[in-house]
Amino acid sequence: MSLGATPFPAHALQTAMSELFSPITLREVTLRNRVAVSPMCEYSRTDGFANDWHVVHLGSRAVGGAGLVLTEAIAVTAEGRISPQDLGIWNDAHIEQLARIARFCGERGAAFGTQLAHAGRKASTKPPWEGSGAVETGGWTPVSSTTEPFDPTYPVPSALDEAGIAAIVGAFAEAARRTRDAGGSVIEIHSAHGYLLHQFLSPLVNRRNDRWGGSFENRTRLVREVVRAVRAVWPERLPLFVRISATDYVAGGWDLDSSVALAGALSDDGADLIDVSSGGAVPVPPGTIPSGPLYQTPFAERIRRETGIATGAVGMIAEPLDAEAIVADGRADLVFLARELLRDPYWPLFAARTLGAEAPWPPQYQRAIGPRATMHVPAHV
Ligand SMILES: Cc1cc2nc3c(=O)[nH]c(=O)nc-3n(C[C@H](O)[C@H](O)[C@H](O)COP(=O)(O)O)c2cc1C
Repeated sequence: MSLGATPFPAHALQTAMSELFSPITLREVTLRNRVAVSPMCEYSRTDGFANDWHVVHLGSRAVGGAGLVLTEAIAVTAEGRISPQDLGIWNDAHIEQLARIARFCGERGAAFGTQLAHAGRKASTKPPWEGSGAVETGGWTPVSSTTEPFDPTYPVPSALDEAGIAAIVGAFAEAARRTRDAGGSVIEIHSAHGYLLHQFLSPLVNRRNDRWGGSFENRTRLVREVVRAVRAVWPERLPLFVRISATDYVAGGWDLDSSVALAGALSDDGADLIDVSSGGAVPVPPGTIPSGPLYQTPFAERIRRETGIATGAVGMIAEPLDAEAIVADGRADLVFLARELLRDPYWPLFAARTLGAEAPWPPQYQRAIGPRATMHVPAHV
């Protein structure tokens, strides 16, 4: 239930102990607070290299006080990009620009991490502001668990064979090594939203009858192999997250019981936190997904309670008191914000004030600490 924008009682401001703004240590990495910048594709590059946009976009959120700044879905192979404009990490040459962002975030007190991703059959598509579906020029044939496209406007994929699957597991491990070399301190593996790893998990997409399809054990084999391969090169002292879609919202699809079972298995494989999102495996009619404030938080809560693994809640979290309650009530360990941090990269600084916690204002901005001035809007606007 959303707590809405109830004002925090003034008398509590001096005494409140915020759970949202308390640090958390995962393995040997301490995040200064529980606010994570949820991965957000920026569609701002043509060859995978981070550029000034990414430095400013991610750096602003570190200045804004987030505890963890994650990149967008960063492709572990060139054909694993959602769009030709995505970030990539398939080449050692990509490391230098990522290191620049990691350094800046670290200097601002935020941990930096990558969201390692392969889009599978959702690759080779247009940036959203150009429409949807396959790119018209310069595209490629994606790979997947299947030869069925996501929908008729998407590219037709080829089904991966044993060698192709092994190469992708290796590409995730190489990308983890590059994240380490760039100075990243968190990796999140993207196994949600209908991208490649989810294309193996979901029975709606994966209809294979080899050792990668059919049973729960077979469908979960790829993400588990990826986690183990990444863990083998990712230093013991650094945490590993996995983003999953808790449910496909379709009968016969991937569901919350499967997610609970998978979370337990991933914990055994060396994952430290499950970032719990939902949907994306197959197109669903409008209204199927019951969106609203905190709509995915119950999934994170159940996984946390039933497996004991740390979770991240994400999805329409915008009110400081809601975010505080998610952590204080033990529903999740981290709160991931996406669109609210696009609206206001300084959200953590103001949320801390609302909660009576110490806000991580950079010294350069300290003369601005104080109540927000009422914005003057000229009459003609
Ligand atoms: C512009 C934009 C880009 C996104 N790109 C990614 C992405 O690269 N990887 C991912 O896992 N989720 C991505 N998402 C989903 C968000 O991380 C988040 O799960 C979702 O927006 C719900 O959170 P919110 O209600 O706080 O926006 C994106 C969302 C937005 C708005």
